[in-house]
Amino acid sequence: MHCARQVAPDIVWVGGNDKRLSMFEGVYAVPRGVSYNAYLLRDEKTVLFDTVDKAVAKVFYENVAHALAGRKLDYVVVHHMEPDHSATLDGLLEKYPEATLVCSRLTLAMTAQFFHKDLSGRALVVGEGDRLSLGNRELTFFMAPMVHWPEVMVTYESGDRALFSADAFGVFGAIDGALFADEVDFYGDYLDEARRYYCNIVGKYGPQTQALLKKMKALDIALVCPLHGFVHRRDFERYAACYDKWSRYEPEERGVMIACASIYGNTANAAETLSAKLRERGVRTVMFDVSVTPASEIVAAAFRFSHLVFASPTYNAGVFVTMEEVLRDIAAHNLQNRTIALIENGSWAPASGKLMRALLEPLKGTDFVGDVLTIKSSLRKEQETELDQLADAIADSVMGKAEEKTAEAPAAKKKFRCKVCGYIHEADELPADFKCPICGRGAEFFEEIE
Ligand SMILES: Cc1cc2nc3c(=O)[nH]c(=O)nc-3n(C[C@H](O)[C@H](O)[C@H](O)COP(=O)(O)O)c2cc1C
Ligand SMILES: [Fe+2]
Ligand SMILES: [Fe+2]
Repeated sequence: MHCARQVAPDIVWVGGNDKRLSMFEGVYAVPRGVSYNAYLLRDEKTVLFDTVDKAVAKVFYENVAHALAGRKLDYVVVHHMEPDHSATLDGLLEKYPEATLVCSRLTLAMTAQFFHKDLSGRALVVGEGDRLSLGNRELTFFMAPMVHWPEVMVTYESGDRALFSADAFGVFGAIDGALFADEVDFYGDYLDEARRYYCNIVGKYGPQTQALLKKMKALDIALVCPLHGFVHRRDFERYAACYDKWSRYEPEERGVMIACASIYGNTANAAETLSAKLRERGVRTVMFDVSVTPASEIVAAAFRFSHLVFASPTYNAGVFVTMEEVLRDIAAHNLQNRTIALIENGSWAPASGKLMRALLEPLKGTDFVGDVLTIKSSLRKEQETELDQLADAIADSVMGKAEEKTAEAPAAKKKFRCKVCGYIHEADELPADFKCPICGRGAEFFEEIE
């Protein structure tokens, strides 16, 4: 039996949900499943936007037949060749031999790689800004390279002012019959998963996402129809603002994400004590054990918070395995503009602090706060002052007091003006042997100004 829903009078969701998949793309746990969206548009011509993963092939074919209601299929637009959307494309093209494939040049090349067939004879290759009239409505195609893969494009449809956005604006989780984001508490129940989805799947390609957002600004969009998750018809600006932040690598919240690794519990104890001290200073913290929480959640939290603490034992003269994996994952996702503090542990030659720093230092806009806190096996009572100092430094930075202090410091300096040439020298005091770098006059020619 088909299981489809109307997105608009002439647009039908014809996708499917998989709640049995445990690891999406082999690496992301999806405890709430995932939806593979496809949409059928009926105008004078009929258009199918994308196909689905093989897991939901049966219901998809039933949905397409139901939505066509006996009409022939004129076009299949392929926005993205990744098999979660195109595994059933080959089968669909066989079922509907009269349908024309509409896609980018790169997509066409990938169809040959995946299906070992030359589909060029039935393909309409489109590029940036190309249009396709369907009778009453018109489609316009925009390229969105690397908003997951290089061949990705999105389509704007003029009748319902719908943007078929490919992987952009998707979310993990089966939709279970609730097609629209406003039919669920999207910003309450799904934002964490939306962040995990974006940051892990597309996060490395912030500038490319910015380019797509810029193209979207020029369009009058009423509906956003992604390839996973819900259709957005209200409040979409809020979601677009999240994408804007994430793709600029700007934190959503001032607060601290603490990720720790621990074999015997002592590094975890230090991390938790630091978290308690930060809480006492009014700072919001979240804490993860990197051996327990999947890396994708920690990557997402690192995109969310302004400040990050990594605490790890030294392990075979390196960083503990699961911590190293997380740090490499964060670096691979190109995270930027974060303030970071480090805690290292070691029983004979602690080295994880320096090594963690080396992994994170190349990230653009990274600042380190405080010195690396070194623990020898377990935190000693005498180290509490050190931990307090680290908590103070992090808290000041989170609350913006560190910036205030540095901003105030130069203001405290005095200004001395050369009475001859007007050169202004800023310093706490003007040395007696000072010479004006412009006119060469001595200190006696300078006067203090406010
Ligand atoms: C397999 C293994 C390798 C280790 N390698 C090192 C090392 O190279 N240098 C070091 O100082 N400590 C090393 N350690 C010791 C731990 O880093 C140390 O005991 C630390 O205090 C553990 O912290 P935890 O209580 O948070 O697990 C190693 C421990 C294990 C189990
Ligand atoms: Fe994808
Ligand atoms: Fe996808």
